[in-house]
Amino acid sequence: MNVLIVGNGGREHALLWKMRRDDPAARFYVTRPNGGMLDDCVAVDLAPTDVEGIAAWAASHRPDLTVVGPEAPLAAGLVDRLQREGLPAFGPTASAARIESSKAYAKDLMTRAGVPTAHYRAFRDRDAAIAWVEARGAPIVVKASGLAAGKGAVVCASVAEAIGAVTEMVDGTAFGAAGHEVVIEECMEGPELSVFAICDGRHAALLLPAQDHKRVGEGDTGPNTGGMGAYAPVSMATPDVIAEARGRVIEPTLAALAADGAPFRGLLYAGLMSTSEGLKVVEFNCRFGDPETQALLPLMSSSLLQLMADVASGGSVEDATIEWSGQRAVTTVVASGGYPGSYERGRPITIPAGLEDDGLILFHAGTSVRDGALVSSGGRVLAATGLGTTVEDAAARSRKGAASIDLEGSFFRSDIGWRETASDSHDQGQTP
Ligand code: AMP
Ligand code: GLY
Repeated sequence: MNVLIVGNGGREHALLWKMRRDDPAARFYVTRPNGGMLDDCVAVDLAPTDVEGIAAWAASHRPDLTVVGPEAPLAAGLVDRLQREGLPAFGPTASAARIESSKAYAKDLMTRAGVPTAHYRAFRDRDAAIAWVEARGAPIVVKASGLAAGKGAVVCASVAEAIGAVTEMVDGTAFGAAGHEVVIEECMEGPELSVFAICDGRHAALLLPAQDHKRVGEGDTGPNTGGMGAYAPVSMATPDVIAEARGRVIEPTLAALAADGAPFRGLLYAGLMSTSEGLKVVEFNCRFGDPETQALLPLMSSSLLQLMADVASGGSVEDATIEWSGQRAVTTVVASGGYPGSYERGRPITIPAGLEDDGLILFHAGTSVRDGALVSSGGRVLAATGLGTTVEDAAARSRKGAASIDLEGSFFRSDIGWRETASDSHDQGQTP
């Protein structure tokens, strides 16, 4: 089997790692693989965002399956292009990917489908947006409607901060065209949960629930990042919570997308918050989450490759069952100094020999090989996933792995999983 993976971050490294285990005989092609993927795949020298180039490559190489990792090529219609060539691709079409690429569309769809989410208004006019901010008061959340690499949401403690965020977004200084439309919404409170569903357009097979750590600093402080770490499963996600996520969020959203003529085939990511009024949607993504994927896939014992291949070729997940190892996973991201602001690239990385074992997997994200040496090439550089029978064991292994990386100026959060290790309910995490 020949599989093309589009993307080259930590999520795609985890997808490659898992699919390689699912089918050791398969041949994997990856667009500009990072330093950790290089030895395990055939490199395709095309940018993951080069939709035309990738479509042309696939049309001539005819992979049996293409798995599209990042949102940008999905939103730009790569899967539509591959389908037109008769090539199986895992991921939504551009119209279904709007659930992520237009927050205004996602909010409108949720309102129509009765899916619980924060009260909101969408604006293209700056003065109208500011008037609404002033009328609502703070705290309030301002979001760029378009794709902004996970950094487009600003939780504002004051009206002045919100006005600043609106102005920068609508004027295009913060996120270019992605910010010309803004979604302004009520600020919710509560712990967050990432629920991933493999969808066939109508039905969903849920992965274990995971929790991301978006803030850069220990104790969930400082600015939002793409994600500084994650763990799975999550005790808060009891069978009732999972049933609520499926019945009130995932299923009505799939039905509404299908009714809009955009059935969702691929991985639907529901970012949820457990509020005093029940679960509410913070955001949808149209692809696997990063770094949750690096925590989840090492726990999955049944085949992901088979499931994705089935969905890509028009099969159903109605009767699909996903099996899990029963272990706990904690993933700690090692980031370049300065991230999520500006940071330096090209710094040498030393990984101790023999670091990885049954309880520790090191996924690469922003790494590349230059003149035979491993160097940093992104904000999030590596992700150390620790596995264990308890979350404490998994967290200790993950922390130790992150601490043993030698990269000048780098940092990591040593408290990933703190909500879980602080709770008494360690054995309540459930299989969906
Ligand atoms: P998003 O890009 O929409 O996922 O938002 C990034 C992060 O901002 C979320 O994971 C939350 O931590 C926070 N956030 C987004 N929307 C809200 C909201 N309405 N209320 C409170 N926090 C939010
Ligand atoms: N972990 C957040 C994201 O993938 O968007």
